[in-house]
Amino acid sequence: MDHFSYIDGELCCQGLPLSEIASSVGTPTFVYSRSTIEDHLRKIQSAFSDINAEIFFSVKSCSNIHILRTLLEAGAGLDVVSMGELHRAHLAGARPDQIVFAGVGKTDAEIRAALTSDGGPISMFNVESEPEYEALALAARSLNTRAHAALRVNPDIKAGGHSYISTGQSGTKFGVDLPHAKTLLRKFNKEKHLPLTAIHLHLGSSITSPEPYVQAVKAVLDMIAELRAEGLTIDTLDLGGGFAADYHTGDAPSPDEYARALVPLLKPLHQSGTRILLEPGRMIVANAGVLLTRVTYVKHAANKKFLICDAGMNALIRPALYDAFHFIWPTSVSPQHEPNRRADNLDMPGLEPCDIVGPLCETGDFFALNRKLPVVARGETLAIFTAGAYGMSMASRYNSHPLPAEVLVEGSAPRLIRKRESLHDLTQHELEIPVPGTPTLRVGK
Ligand SMILES: Cc1ncc(COP(=O)(O)O)c(C=O)c1O
Repeated sequence: MDHFSYIDGELCCQGLPLSEIASSVGTPTFVYSRSTIEDHLRKIQSAFSDINAEIFFSVKSCSNIHILRTLLEAGAGLDVVSMGELHRAHLAGARPDQIVFAGVGKTDAEIRAALTSDGGPISMFNVESEPEYEALALAARSLNTRAHAALRVNPDIKAGGHSYISTGQSGTKFGVDLPHAKTLLRKFNKEKHLPLTAIHLHLGSSITSPEPYVQAVKAVLDMIAELRAEGLTIDTLDLGGGFAADYHTGDAPSPDEYARALVPLLKPLHQSGTRILLEPGRMIVANAGVLLTRVTYVKHAANKKFLICDAGMNALIRPALYDAFHFIWPTSVSPQHEPNRRADNLDMPGLEPCDIVGPLCETGDFFALNRKLPVVARGETLAIFTAGAYGMSMASRYNSHPLPAEVLVEGSAPRLIRKRESLHDLTQHELEIPVPGTPTLRVGK
């Protein structure tokens, strides 16, 4: 599954004890396993090899440029949604043809940047609305360049692990419904500077069954057949991401299970020369990362035990935002407490229930409530598992905590891929603006 396992009571990443990283780099720190990232990508590539699916990693899930470079080197492209992610893709070494650009609110500046990358326009824009198409086509025309566009279709299918990450239903801001999609594809299919010849879907995230994909693919296959019969060109189908990860052991179907349901449906399309893209994020990186945090205090109050950690919702917001489960365990345990699976509560002697919380001034600042753990003392390190996706990429400086460090384990060697922020980093943009000797802002009298 991944390359994090206990050896003689010590949690190791590719054989390297994580307590060593916590000692040398400090906490909170995200630690990623390069081998896990590569294995997960390879499994998806091989599961969908019969239709030659191209994998464009969703940068929003984990956007460190060293992780992006790892994925590019392993044969992935990148799916970006902002100027910042485009910048990261360039820094990681992506060629324009290795980038697709999605997102409901692309600004004129972002469109221009993606059209004028060194080496030409990016591979494809995933367009979400008619006004956005118009803005893109205008920009392509005025720059006298030619780009490729997919229309994001909203097939009105419920999918995804939480309402906030369910995007394929009508009533959400994403894509256009099927009848409107046909109208737009007919209207812009032959446009000179921005032919609209591709279809994009993204149903949501943490989708734990192939079924919603099957439904969506069937709906668009009918549409593609109808449009092709009218003489339109449809050259690409991008199925988006959303494939689940194992937060609990056994949560997620394997890439092979998704592929077994989808490849037979997509094969005729592939045989007709259609390019097929996937945009996984979570499935590749979620289990490739853990967040290391130290217990600052063990507090007993209100008949409960709280483990107060040095990371909070500032570092990993998923439990607070999505009510998400993360398996949590100390990095050093006695051999009898080595976990044999990742689950809510393990059945072992000597565990005690506790709330695992952060230091922030919010009751919602917790990682787990009433969770049974081995007894830990102040100063011990906990690992929050499956933190590689939507962890660091969603981290904030709330309560003025500097952003955590990131480490990538390659072979058995750790490489610092992001320094821990300093207090200077926290305030540098405010310091650029001179602070006058006396306050100029007066409130009231
Ligand atoms: C358009 C698009 N593609 C791909 C993804 C990646 O999703 P996941 O990380 O669930 O695979 C997202 C995530 O929200 C997305 O919005």
